[in-house]
Amino acid sequence: MMARLSVLRRSAPLLLVFGAVACDPTPPPVGMVRGAELYETCVPCHGVNGDGKEEVAAPAIAGLPQWYVEEQLRGYQVGYRGDHASALPALRMRPMALSLTREGDIESVAQYVAAMESVYPASTLHGNAGAGAMAYQVCVACHGQDGLGNPDLHAPPIVQLNDWYLLNQLRYFKSGARGADPGDVWGATMRANALVLSDQAMQDVIAYVQTLR
Ligand code: HEC
Ligand code: HEC
Repeated sequence: MMARLSVLRRSAPLLLVFGAVACDPTPPPVGMVRGAELYETCVPCHGVNGDGKEEVAAPAIAGLPQWYVEEQLRGYQVGYRGDHASALPALRMRPMALSLTREGDIESVAQYVAAMESVYPASTLHGNAGAGAMAYQVCVACHGQDGLGNPDLHAPPIVQLNDWYLLNQLRYFKSGARGADPGDVWGATMRANALVLSDQAMQDVIAYVQTLR
């Protein structure tokens, strides 16, 4: 027993050195190479081309702007998104964001996603685009006439996302599963707009958004 302890004591400084190395590695250079490596962990749900997978409610993310992808990954990390039992798809996404622990990884994978060519998934809902056109006039202030968003207001482009995903998000904003955290400043600006929409109005405005492509 004594002998084993003394061996442990002798090797302790060595273990400390290894421990320090394992905890504080030089982070990999930020950029596309690291982004591609990280993106492999996203493929099972978002697809090789970033076109998403409806079975797991993962949206098409290809071509979303880098700033927006970074903000959302940080949002999942702190729990603005993915922290509500009522929003199952977001619960699946949160651990993925939490796995991006090394410095620069969020930037690298966001750069990679932003560089992918946008895909425009086919419509699956049957809202009334004519009625939605009226409702969309409120959205123009932030998402633009063309639905391409406005970085100054942190509003993302919404034309290239799946319609079922857009509906999920509007419902989450309305229920408070997204945009209700006191620290989620930008989510809150969006939430105010979802609160006034009925489920039918959501489907109508989404049908209109899809005509902007
Ligand atoms: C286990 C499946 C799964 C994996 C793996 C996964 N995601 Fe997701 N992701 C989802 C789902 C589901 C959503 C939709 C969540 C919601 O409705 O809030 C989502 C949403 C997102 C969003 C938000 C899109 C938007 O328009 O706001 C981003 C960005 C994203 N994922 C990036 C990534 C990246 C980058 C990776 C790899 C590091 C990744 N995801 C891995 C399932 C996954
Ligand atoms: C005051 C500005 C503002 C207005 C007006 C506004 N939005 Fe938003 N919207 C935002 C912001 C900011 C976000 C991103 C929030 C975040 O970071 O979570 C957002 C996000 C969204 C999302 C989620 C996109 C994604 O990729 O997850 C949808 C869908 C959306 N808005 C639809 C609409 C519709 C439809 C309207 C009109 C009825 C509207 N918005 C009006 C600012 C606005």
